[in-house]
Amino acid sequence: MAAGRAPFHEPGLDPLVAKGISRGLLSLHAENVVAAGGARAVFVAVPTPPGDDGAVDLSIVEAAVRSIAGVVTEGVPVVIKSSVPPGSSRRIAAVLEETASLGSLVINPEFLQEGLAVRGVLEPARVVIGSDDPQAAAVVAALHEPFGARVVSTDPASAELIKYAANAYLAIRVTFANTVAGVADAVGADIADVLEGVGLDPRIGRHFLQPGPGYGGSCLPKDLTALIAAAAEHGVDLKLIAAVVAANVEQAGRVVSKARQALGDPSGKSIGLLGLAFKANTSDTRESPALAVARRLIELGARVRAYDPAARVAEPGVEQVSSAMEAVTGVDLVVVATEWAEFADLDWEQVRDAMAGKSVVDARNLLDKEAVVAAGLEYVGMGR
Ligand code: UGA
Repeated sequence: MAAGRAPFHEPGLDPLVAKGISRGLLSLHAENVVAAGGARAVFVAVPTPPGDDGAVDLSIVEAAVRSIAGVVTEGVPVVIKSSVPPGSSRRIAAVLEETASLGSLVINPEFLQEGLAVRGVLEPARVVIGSDDPQAAAVVAALHEPFGARVVSTDPASAELIKYAANAYLAIRVTFANTVAGVADAVGADIADVLEGVGLDPRIGRHFLQPGPGYGGSCLPKDLTALIAAAAEHGVDLKLIAAVVAANVEQAGRVVSKARQALGDPSGKSIGLLGLAFKANTSDTRESPALAVARRLIELGARVRAYDPAARVAEPGVEQVSSAMEAVTGVDLVVVATEWAEFADLDWEQVRDAMAGKSVVDARNLLDKEAVVAAGLEYVGMGR
């Protein structure tokens, strides 16, 4: 980081970090108290990993808040940027109280998407500020003023719920698209036309309706499970969200079924996997559907050779190679698991010549189907 490089792939982030450091606007410290001492606001942006029971493990947030208690001066906002489920603010407030911290708790969830994170920060669709202290909320609102976004000022619990409800709704939309794609497969409809026809209704909209191998990443899967757990603590049974989680797990299985239909018994066969990241433009493979598909195929006895432009994995059974053409050479089947633009640009005649088999499962509906078919390959999409 000190050299101006983020430890992960995020378009546009490195130059921003480097600029911040060279202009003296950003300095990096190894001690929380050094970073937070004398600050007019402190942002806590530490991980909130899932615990064993699906509930979020808040201990890293609590430790961070505890660690700065002695250096935060009166009324300074202690801003929780980490994703914390509804009800967490009470626990964090208890830590402030217990440590006699003078800071004021503000819940300020982030809505950025990996791969589009810089734009998400600089051009937010909205800023949510949840606090019981109007002065602390005003300091945080003033910090966001240059971004020109609508501010939703509310209480801490509502701010927490906004974050989780938003991610749940996004997951519902993706799962809805995947569900309809399954019906399109069954009845011979074209999912792209179907979802265009559905999404042109202004009450519905076109965004977040792209079928695929299921939603992944470090947020949606974890946040839905955490929302279910947080609601259950209050006796609320989230059947809809639980159904979405179950359908999403099945979605990777649907990709594998398509592979089996095209390939027969996967045992002893080789699969070229294009993409490992949970989506394009990130190196993140946390809860990646590409890996879920790879694992199932390996369990069935297949060998998987994978290529990803940014992600690296140490996954038993997955041989990682350094180009898409290398990944498809000699394989019985190709699976497109992540929607990297470079996969759409492959020369399919060259791919056909390099493969041993003849089928391509496009789990992202990324490819030009006609070009794949024209090259003499069998194309299998999701509801296409
Ligand atoms: C998600 C939310 O979109 C952000 O608003 C939120 O701030 C973030 O989680 C978070 O909680 O920190 P992200 O995890 O970066 O962002 O990923 P998304 O872009 O939401 O994609 C999630 C998954 O859904 C990916 O696997 C993606 O490929 C899949 N997806 C997305 C689809 O299959 N179809 C779509 O139409 C959209």
